[in-house]
Amino acid sequence: MPHCYGRLDLNVGVVREINLKKIFAIALCLIATTVTASDIDERRVLPITEMQRNHILTEMRALLAGTQNILSALATDDMAAVARHARPLGTGMAHKGEDHMQAVLPQEFMQLGMSVHKDFDQMAADAESLKDSRHTLKQLSESMNKCVACHAAYQIRITDQPAKLHTQPMQHKH
Ligand code: HEC
Repeated sequence: MPHCYGRLDLNVGVVREINLKKIFAIALCLIATTVTASDIDERRVLPITEMQRNHILTEMRALLAGTQNILSALATDDMAAVARHARPLGTGMAHKGEDHMQAVLPQEFMQLGMSVHKDFDQMAADAESLKDSRHTLKQLSESMNKCVACHAAYQIRITDQPAKLHTQPMQHKH
């Protein structure tokens, strides 16, 4: 990416000096700006309620914080701490509140999420038995491809009338 915010001297002498490369760079910047301005989030929308959104995002922040804790423990080769931080991100975390999400979210979404929790179970178990930080790093890195993949595929939006499992009274349109 060319740097877009460099000084543009537009007095006549300098304008003559603007070479093709610079014009090309400016053109690229303009194109990039245009694309950003009209960019539409094309990820699949998951319509959910405010409460469900809060549930998902709270879990997500726990995943991010836990991942950071694991990395920090790995940096000091503290494999007991790795296991301690990985375990709460495992399938136990999922079982806490995902039963009611099952009916609202697509199956592939739930499966991808569950497979990340299983990875953390495995990471915790291996950190305890193998105590090999490189092995854990590899596991974490591979598992994080799933974070990346899911975020690339889905977005959530709040809706008053989610498809299923709505707790508020039914609203009839006449
Ligand atoms: C099965 C799908 C899925 C997986 C797997 C997943 N996420 Fe997410 N995550 C989401 C969705 C959906 C959002 C909301 C994105 C949006 O609407 O733009 C989100 C949002 C987030 C946020 C923003 C939280 C906030 O408060 O706004 C963080 C941080 C995050 N995820 C971290 C992670 C990490 C770290 C991992 C892997 C360890 C992970 N996620 C795995 C689906 C997933």
